[in-house]
Amino acid sequence: MTTRAATAADLDAIMALEHASFPTDAWSPAMMREELASPHGWYVVVEEAGRLVGYAGLRAVRGSRDADIQTITIAESARGRGRGRALLSELLVEAERRGVHEVFLEVRADNPVAQALYASEGFAEVGRRPRYYQPDDVDAIVMQLDLRGWAARRTPDDATTTTTGKGWC
Ligand SMILES: CC(C)(COP(=O)(O)OP(=O)(O)OC[C@H]1O[C@@H](n2cnc3c(N)ncnc32)[C@H](O)[C@@H]1OP(=O)(O)O)[C@@H](O)C(=O)NCCC(=O)NCCS
Repeated sequence: MTTRAATAADLDAIMALEHASFPTDAWSPAMMREELASPHGWYVVVEEAGRLVGYAGLRAVRGSRDADIQTITIAESARGRGRGRALLSELLVEAERRGVHEVFLEVRADNPVAQALYASEGFAEVGRRPRYYQPDDVDAIVMQLDLRGWAARRTPDDATTTTTGKGWC
């Protein structure tokens, strides 16, 4: 497994995964292109045997104490083997580098797998947005992480994670 910063050249592979993972509310290629190019963003991808099997994005405006996890997706065939957690950690490490204190995200109320991942990293529910996801009419759960607490809980092994280089989850 290799993780690296995403580039504009990853757009097609990212969009293929986006449509497979979010059949009813995928972002458009234009939105994704803008996200990848934004100076306020930080997108990472994970590859296996040269194939892109996941991506994740952070929005952290320089100088702001808050940041958002924008998206995180692992190809169905590659799930359940730690890749989602690895990408989330990459985003949180970058948020730390940018001086962020609080990280927010929105997750579908009918997505217990993603909720479990976030809760296990220390995110806690702080609100709900009724019927936020359309056309499915599903609520969004808003979650928040105290990033300094998260950093303090990391083990030395976790700290070796490096990537050089919707919240609408
Ligand atoms: C959510 C997602 C990114 C998780 O990625 P992943 O690589 O499968 O997850 P990991 O293997 O890193 O597992 C991390 C944690 O997620 C939770 N999890 C993973 N698979 C799970 C399952 N089948 N059932 C319940 N919890 C699960 C567990 O808390 C797990 O921690 P553990 O292994 O210590 O028990 C992936 O399922 C995915 O892409 N889903 C579709 C897109 C999506 O819903 N994105 C999130 C939008 S907010």
